[in-house]
Amino acid sequence: MTADLFADSPSTERRNEPLGPGAVVLRAFALDEGAALVDIIHALSTVSPFRHLVTPGGHTMSVAMTNCGKVGWVSDRRGYRYDAIDPETGQPWPPMPALFMQLAAEAAAEAGFDRFVPDACLVNRYVTGSRLTMHQDRNERRDSEPIVSVSLGVPAMFQFGGQGKGTKPLNVPLVHGDVVVWGGPSRMNYHGVLPLKASHHPLTGMDRLNLTFRTAR
Ligand code: SIN
Ligand code: FE2
Repeated sequence: MTADLFADSPSTERRNEPLGPGAVVLRAFALDEGAALVDIIHALSTVSPFRHLVTPGGHTMSVAMTNCGKVGWVSDRRGYRYDAIDPETGQPWPPMPALFMQLAAEAAAEAGFDRFVPDACLVNRYVTGSRLTMHQDRNERRDSEPIVSVSLGVPAMFQFGGQGKGTKPLNVPLVHGDVVVWGGPSRMNYHGVLPLKASHHPLTGMDRLNLTFRTAR
């Protein structure tokens, strides 16, 4: 077998694609750990199940979410916040697995952010049609730390905008194993995910899974 055979399947090759100052796509960075990450997510979801959160405006999100780590991101009619207790179970969120911590720290370092120690990992599950409207990640106390986002399963179109709502976003196709890191001058950039197209991945079926690591407190 020669490398040429894979010339048109670059999604398995590691390479860094800058999106702007402090923002980069690390192609295939989590590919080796992909299967293990998917298994761990399934185990976590038996402790703190995926659920559809309601926004403060009363809209039920199409993306199903759960968390692991010291705190988890939650939304309800009262607002958005980080909470140490899973409101669904009344128990603490499952602890952040060592593999998650290590991967997040390595990805952050690759993007130029040393000593990233996340205390929160939001786990998103998308099915066909699920989307995430453009938003800023602004509930974290320490915005000096980056966001590290790991894509697993079915491909998605990620949109990466600017500081203001009006900036025309870049459309960034993300596939299984890709990691996006945004911090520094890009930390507050708007971002979102277009409605998921029907597709299949051997590890996740019709689903896309996404991990976003944050330093919330
Ligand atoms: C997020 O903004 O929390 C998730 C982004 C993604 O699913 O790629
Ligand atoms: Fe986000």
